[in-house]
Amino acid sequence: MTRHLITSALPYINGIKHLGNLIGSQLPADLFARYQRSRSNEVLFLCATDEHGTPAELAAAKAGKPVATYCNEMHGIQADIAKRFRLSFDHFGRSSSPENHQMTQYFARCLANAGLIREVSEQQIYSISDGRFLPDRYIEGTCPNCGYDKARGDQCEKCTKQLCPTDLIDPHSAISGSTDLELRKTKHLYLRQSALKYDLDAWIDSKKDWPILTTSIAKKWLHDGNGLQDRGITRDLDWGIPVKKGDADWPGMEGKVFYVWFDAPIEYIACAREWSIKTGGDWERWWRTDKGADDVHYTQFMGKDNVPFHTLSFPATILGSGEPWKMVDQLKSFNYLNYEGGQFSTSQERGVFMDQALGILPADYWRWWLLSHAPESSDSEFTWENFQQSVNKDLADVLGNFVSRITKFCRSKFGAVVPGGGSFGPAETALIAELTARVRTYEGFMDAIEVRKSAQELRAIWVAGNEYLQSAAPWSTFKENPDMAAVQVRFGLNLIRLYAVLSAPFIPDVSAAMLAAMRTEHADWPDDIEGALRMLDGGHVFTVPDVLFAKITDDQREEWQNRFRGTR
Ligand code: MF3
Ligand code: ZN
Repeated sequence: MTRHLITSALPYINGIKHLGNLIGSQLPADLFARYQRSRSNEVLFLCATDEHGTPAELAAAKAGKPVATYCNEMHGIQADIAKRFRLSFDHFGRSSSPENHQMTQYFARCLANAGLIREVSEQQIYSISDGRFLPDRYIEGTCPNCGYDKARGDQCEKCTKQLCPTDLIDPHSAISGSTDLELRKTKHLYLRQSALKYDLDAWIDSKKDWPILTTSIAKKWLHDGNGLQDRGITRDLDWGIPVKKGDADWPGMEGKVFYVWFDAPIEYIACAREWSIKTGGDWERWWRTDKGADDVHYTQFMGKDNVPFHTLSFPATILGSGEPWKMVDQLKSFNYLNYEGGQFSTSQERGVFMDQALGILPADYWRWWLLSHAPESSDSEFTWENFQQSVNKDLADVLGNFVSRITKFCRSKFGAVVPGGGSFGPAETALIAELTARVRTYEGFMDAIEVRKSAQELRAIWVAGNEYLQSAAPWSTFKENPDMAAVQVRFGLNLIRLYAVLSAPFIPDVSAAMLAAMRTEHADWPDDIEGALRMLDGGHVFTVPDVLFAKITDDQREEWQNRFRGTR
């Protein structure tokens, strides 16, 4: 048994996330967590809202609410939607929690003690008309690296380069648009990442099994020119974690807060503490290698724009602390999901957002499409046509139809009871061999977090059952050889149970409905396929489930296409 610590990048608190955000991190993380649990491994799956920094402040100002109130409300909303998407977090925490305040200030003290923090007096951009400093996303302009004209003061979304506000060309205030800016003197703390370059390089080199997308981004920022500069970890803002050294004040830093990208990843740890307070669990067993976490396997999920922070900044915090914290083992990153020939856009309300998606169709429809089209090796695109096709074919025609045909046929000829008698013939033996091979392949892909390939293999497993049913044709067999039809039908009913178990990480609700219809508690992972296909024996009572997946009509598709086209 392995112990899996799994984290998803923490969604910003500022609003409901779109499907592109969902497939970029939380959903594949959930797939992996569910799979590992179903393999009887111990899992701690953590996520939280990322509540500090400019995204939160700007969104709260727009909503006309105090930041703390805004964050309380949005956390509740995001937690509710996550639940409805069946994201199976063991805890959905908050980066604004007392645990994270304490943990962040603790790390700052460790880093200061290790001599890795410099105090710097520097010039920062001050907006005269806004009457305040403009850190990070409070400022926008043109990226000096790629020329993108809506780059923000912390990072260019287009080329993923981390930036400082003073790097931007033609800067202006994101609050007022003002260009009436000047440089003013202020004092900040810098983390001496450059001193850790050698350690980070060696650590990244030791990760032989990381996806190319991950290592290439990490190496690029580690070696390209000024990739690993020392980084400012404090800001002139009101909302955030006050700058302190543990519980002690930090002279000269009064009224300042830590930078959101300093405290947010520390919430991965603090979140485990929140979880332990809630459940009585032992968080150190997951996070401290001196307290048993050395046999934990830690996997992080995130979009590609997050990779520099998880391969460089956060590891620098952890390594620099000099303490035995668990470090990430596998880092799975994703490209972007586009929407109908363009991008998802929060500001233009273009594309489908999580709450809207659930207003149209149940979670499993979305989970299946998104996971089977995860933007792994390149960006991928959501189109309504493709979504309709995938739902109608994979889910309705292949899986749904299989379940409905078998159960209905059985009920009409044998009653809603698994028919007994007879034994497996060559067709059943051949399918057992095929499924054994396919399930082992599926496990291999799931272990390796090859999301699309896993979905393809699972679909092939469903198809194999359909093909079997088509050629076995119990409805014809039944006339000359009812015993053989009984074997075929019993085999088919057992396939439903097997499919429910295998498909649960992708489509948990429908899988549960399939298991309930088969009235079975046996949901153990099938190490022995033949055994798994003998589980439901003659005389076992079942129910015919309601339609598992409804087809999407052309009218629906067109209506939705129009509805989500975007407002501006
Ligand atoms: N909120 C960030 C984003 O959405 C991700 C933060 S991940 C963490 O891009 F490491 F900081 F926690
Ligand atoms: Zn750029």
